[in-house]
Amino acid sequence: MTDSNKSATLTVHGETYELPVHSPTVGPDVIDIRKLYGQAGVFTYDPGFTSTASCDSTITYIDGEKGELLHRGYPIDQLAGKSHFLEVCYLLLYGELPAAKDLEEFETTITRHTMLHEQMQYFYRGFRRDAHPMAIMVGVVGAMSAFYHDSTDVSDPQQREIASHRLIAKMPTIAAWAYKYHIGQPFIYPRNDLDYASNFLRMCFAVPAEEYEVNPILSRAMDRIFTLHADHEQNASTSTVRLASSSGANPFACIAAGIACLWGPAHGGANQACLEMLAEIGSVDRIPEFIDRAKDKDDPFRLMGFGHRVYKNFDPRAKVMKQSADEVLDLLGIEDNPKLQVAKALEKQALEDPYFAEKKLFPNVDFYSGIILEAMGFPTSMFTPIFALSRTVGWVSQWKEMIADPQNKIGRPRQLYLGETARDYVDIENR
Ligand code: SDX
Repeated sequence: MTDSNKSATLTVHGETYELPVHSPTVGPDVIDIRKLYGQAGVFTYDPGFTSTASCDSTITYIDGEKGELLHRGYPIDQLAGKSHFLEVCYLLLYGELPAAKDLEEFETTITRHTMLHEQMQYFYRGFRRDAHPMAIMVGVVGAMSAFYHDSTDVSDPQQREIASHRLIAKMPTIAAWAYKYHIGQPFIYPRNDLDYASNFLRMCFAVPAEEYEVNPILSRAMDRIFTLHADHEQNASTSTVRLASSSGANPFACIAAGIACLWGPAHGGANQACLEMLAEIGSVDRIPEFIDRAKDKDDPFRLMGFGHRVYKNFDPRAKVMKQSADEVLDLLGIEDNPKLQVAKALEKQALEDPYFAEKKLFPNVDFYSGIILEAMGFPTSMFTPIFALSRTVGWVSQWKEMIADPQNKIGRPRQLYLGETARDYVDIENR
């Protein structure tokens, strides 16, 4: 943290306090309130953490006003265009783009960890076939704590490294098997001669009865979707992983907590909700009715895939995703996909509407991703599992950063208590 000679003065209950101000390499300064309660006997109040930095980090930076996203300083559009997911994983985990030899070694390590313990198959069999794949992923990832005992000691850097590799490597197998179980097809094992994205597609769509050729257009698009979802500062699920990890819980349990948080429609569940919304709108002429609903304070309906806590400009990932949607559908020969037509018309009409302009509501990463995933053959129920698969490297990188931070301590927020003061118990006959 670059300590600046700036400080903030706070006067409360007639007393004045000087609070240190720390400056980042880029972005807003922060007021250090760690000693505030001890000095002034007051808490700060920020439900939803709209103005609160929960940690310092060197992994990802978002400039919401500019619509800029950097991973270890590299802009997301350059990574999506020039890199590939496992190289981005290396960058997020270790801080630098790898030399060719290091990349090859890393890819071999990840490839060799893609299989699951054979006993885990039986864990799947405990679920109903119609269980949502996210329910299965939360359960199976948490259950990894019961299978990989040799990588649960977070105080051992070696074990942290192995756990990181296992989580990144096995998530595609876990997600693909959740899908296969859901549709009643046999599990397909990973293959070491395939790249990460191709392996995932084959585990999802191959059947034992015939050979499966991975379409290079789809595997490139899949790999790009993984990259676009890899990490995103201290979003709700990453903050969940950090808070769970602050108690020293094992990495598998903490990542399972992140998956649970991501499932919500306000977060990673928005990609499924967005495609279902586009299907419900159905045609361009019905868009005004839904925009009116989204603006109506008395209607809980919101435009799924629109708006963001940090971006007050275009989400740069949405721009890349929109371009990729055009390319993939074109290359697949899918002419005028109705949902893509509705999405483009909806985006145009919303962005021309003063309500969305004033509130700086733009399409986010979830607005176009579902259109590509559906064109690739995935059901909407697999959209959020794919987001979870992609975000695992972000969760793991942030977890490693936190655990290695000597300042790391258990997270324990306080509250503004508005309940009853102390009162005596009343026996039931006197109530
Ligand atoms: C992700 O944090 C991350 O980085 C998340 C993520 C990541 O990579 O990890 O980027 C992934 O979660 C993307 C967001 C996916 N969610 C959706 O698309 C769901 C729809 N969007 C909203 O629910 C909402 O925009 C949030 C949850 C994303 C952000 O909510 P905030 O920051 O708490 O903002 P808010 O709810 O206070 O909204 C501000 C105003 C409100 O109006 P007022 O009360 O001020 O009058 O904007 C309105 C909201 O009603 N608003 C919307 C809207 N989003 C906000 N109105 C209509 N449609 C919307 N989508």
